[in-house]
Amino acid sequence: MTHIEFLHLPAELILACLADLPLDDLDSCLKCGNRTLHEVIDNSVLLRYRRAQDRAGVEENPCVASNLGISDRLAALHSREANWSQLTPRSRHTIAGDLRTGGLYDLASDTYFVGNVADPNTMSRTGIKYVCTSPMVEPSQWRMIDVGRSIIDFGTALEEHDMIAMVTYTPFGSNASIDVQLLNLSTGAPHSLAAHPTLHIHDVEQTRGRPGISIEIVGNNLALSLVYWDDELGDMDTFHLYNWKSGAARMDTLAIYSTGLMFLATDIIVIPNTVEATLDVLRIPEDEAEVPQFLRTFYLPTLIAGNAIVSMQCRGVPNPRLSTKRPSRAPFLSRPADSILLFFLAILNPSVVNNLFLVLDRARFLALVDIPSEVDNLDVPWEEWGPPCARWLDATDISMQYITTTAGQRMVTIPRDAPLSPAPIRLLDFNPANVEAQRKRGVSHGVRVVGESTLDLAPFTEPVVSCLPYVEVTSEEQFDYAAVMINDENIIGARFADRSLSSLEVLHFG
Ligand SMILES: *[C@@H]1O[C@H](CO)[C@@H](O)[C@H](O)[C@H]1NC(C)=O
Ligand SMILES: *[C@@H]1O[C@H](CO)[C@@H](O)[C@H](O)[C@H]1NC(C)=O
Ligand SMILES: *[C@@H]1O[C@H](CO)[C@@H](O)[C@H](O)[C@H]1NC(C)=O
Ligand SMILES: *[C@@H]1O[C@H](CO)[C@@H](O)[C@H](O)[C@H]1NC(C)=O
Repeated sequence: MTHIEFLHLPAELILACLADLPLDDLDSCLKCGNRTLHEVIDNSVLLRYRRAQDRAGVEENPCVASNLGISDRLAALHSREANWSQLTPRSRHTIAGDLRTGGLYDLASDTYFVGNVADPNTMSRTGIKYVCTSPMVEPSQWRMIDVGRSIIDFGTALEEHDMIAMVTYTPFGSNASIDVQLLNLSTGAPHSLAAHPTLHIHDVEQTRGRPGISIEIVGNNLALSLVYWDDELGDMDTFHLYNWKSGAARMDTLAIYSTGLMFLATDIIVIPNTVEATLDVLRIPEDEAEVPQFLRTFYLPTLIAGNAIVSMQCRGVPNPRLSTKRPSRAPFLSRPADSILLFFLAILNPSVVNNLFLVLDRARFLALVDIPSEVDNLDVPWEEWGPPCARWLDATDISMQYITTTAGQRMVTIPRDAPLSPAPIRLLDFNPANVEAQRKRGVSHGVRVVGESTLDLAPFTEPVVSCLPYVEVTSEEQFDYAAVMINDENIIGARFADRSLSSLEVLHFG
């Protein structure tokens, strides 16, 4: 048998062998000191494209990319990243709003959603309107799904299941029924994978008022929190977990004190606990016979006596997913595993409310959760876990109309009073490669790196250390938006008239 050394194979064959290697292994090949191997890797557009996607924390959208050759895709990714890093949109367009909207909003994937107000006197909503935010040949058309019952909130799983889940409130006698309707967004019809298109959550006396809701859908799991803010008793404030396909509850309900929940991974949920000031982490076993268990409790920095967390909303966009059935129209999709997590805290001391953002690096936080739990100590104090994966930001002057201000590794903000006195948009980019590149470049106009820092925040006993670095880009242009949002290809500014959405302005970056 003839003996052939790997590096004596033709370059095409070497490439074919390397093409599916994990990127760490490719890096090792580059560093091993053989020039032939280095050149083969470096000269390959395919491998350069893979490495560029990895650096940017994205994957290509197969539906969009398939029309282009690899070098064009690489060029498209480079120019996208350049436009984002300079905050220079490639194009902009305006989507006219609608006077009869309000109350509920969301931006998911490429789609913006808003409640349809049928009757301005009651502000009651039985429909949700939605529109695609991507630039299109034809002007974007609003569409609507009406469920004929009062909608108190909704959640979506567009990429994974083409699904919208409407949480409805239906009075009967002196009670009301709270239900979740699982619908196919493309058709508005019951979702074909749900054995029971309506999940009945519970019945509740109408005197308790309408609950605040958090809802997320990932894989087979649907997680829901309800808090009856106007009700003193608090015994109906609960967290629910279902297999939405079968309709079966995965566990007994848990008592909670505030809405807010997020999927850290497809089988791990974070539930903020406002009373203990912790993030409680729940694992959902794949085996339906096993009951979900709390893995660990991560403490926030210690609050000064007399301060109390009123609410802790949270989002990590995109959600983790097991498959991609309905990708957005964006050419590049942020990878869930690389995305940042955003928590918005309202902390009351007897006289003022302090608003804070906490940004966590999803991958670093997940690594702390995933440590095999033979360890007895399930409580992790802030100092042990927080600083390396966190960034605290003062949110006092920032518009908080929406929590949809992150996508992948980017976050966007605008001052609260921008409608009265137009102001720049700030883009915070937590991508490590971009932080590194900007550090080398040094400070340039409107762009800076924010490294490790210590903030003295009013509610906490000690100054808090944040080590998670980011690049901050401040736009030269000033905007009068009441709120800004972000998705994989756009920054979207919203303007309101009265309480309705008057327009969306889309800044497109690709
Ligand atoms: C790279 O490896 C090949 C095959 O083993 C060898 O012929 C060549 O000399 C090496 N080149 C360098 C620069 O080490
Ligand atoms: C971004 O897009 C604009 C408008 O198309 C273009 O003029 C500009 O050169 C692009 N790149 C950067 C780095 O701003
Ligand atoms: C939603 O409806 C469309 C149109 O009938 C269909 O093509 C799609 O497969 C449905 N999605 C799911 C997840 O059932
Ligand atoms: C109303 O809801 C409460 C709370 O769930 C329940 O105890 C009571 O039986 C309900 N009453 C009716 C008439 O369904």
